[in-house]
Amino acid sequence: MSFSPLVISVTSGKGGVGKTNISVNLACALAELNQRVLLLDGDLGLGNVDVLLGLNPPFNLAHLLSGEKEIEEIIYPTEFGFSILPAASGVPEITKLSQGQKLELLEAFDPLEKKVDYLIVDTGAGLHDHVIYFNLAVEKRIIILTPEPTSLTDAYALIKVLKNHHQVNSFEVIVNMAKSEKDGKEAFKKLYLACEKFLGSISLNLLGIIPLEAKIKKHVQNQEPFYLNKTLNSSRQLKNIATAIYNWPKKRVIDGNIKFFWKKLLFQEG
Ligand SMILES: Nc1ncnc2c1ncn2[C@@H]1O[C@H](COP(=O)(O)OP(=O)(O)O)[C@@H](O)[C@H]1O
Ligand SMILES: [Mg+2]
Repeated sequence: MSFSPLVISVTSGKGGVGKTNISVNLACALAELNQRVLLLDGDLGLGNVDVLLGLNPPFNLAHLLSGEKEIEEIIYPTEFGFSILPAASGVPEITKLSQGQKLELLEAFDPLEKKVDYLIVDTGAGLHDHVIYFNLAVEKRIIILTPEPTSLTDAYALIKVLKNHHQVNSFEVIVNMAKSEKDGKEAFKKLYLACEKFLGSISLNLLGIIPLEAKIKKHVQNQEPFYLNKTLNSSRQLKNIATAIYNWPKKRVIDGNIKFFWKKLLFQEG
């Protein structure tokens, strides 16, 4: 029995809040801590991770489902120390699989268990089925919030659905695009108070605040993780966040966590 990978979602109510950017740079920061990171691009329709990094992975989950490729052939190593599991165009098919095919798919993920320390799932935004499913299947959820009022109401809506319909009551929060630390703390406080008032007992932890930093756009334009630039305040904040995540307790399990994640995802009852 050994430590199993920790499966984490990076999620939000609203699009464009920085999920993909944070997923990619968190993967970089954890890789720097000598962790083996696999990033699952689960944002359907918007194959984001590859665009952000200027990569073009030739295969995705659809090739695994069709039996054309093995899991190891789909996984795409990047020069930044982590790997990508391109899922986007393969995920809709998952819901249409027969029970037998689902079991086969589950077996296909077995080799990952010993090769990965963190599986980060960039989920896409909103209350779509696939966003909810990913969030139910993971062990830890990181909600990306920005100080914008719409981001707040949409984050609240996502938490509400996960809490009231699916009994999920523990969330990590990163405030992104904060104009100051105070601005970030206020955004978190608003979400916290709304959840406390209307949703009752719920655990909401402020994992970190990432500033609105114009230079981030430059890195996005250059298709490289901003984390490579250690002079950015955002990089320092992200390093703290990665260190906090690194220090989260890891469970020892017999049947691995990645398998558990896919099992929950595949056999979820609506
Ligand atoms: N902290 C930040 N400061 C400035 N721009 C940011 C920051 N975080 C994200 N962005 C920009 O916001 C846009 C949306 O980010 P993205 O990660 O694609 O969001 P999402 O995945 O949530 O839709 C990108 O153009 C990105 O460069
Ligand atoms: Mg995205």
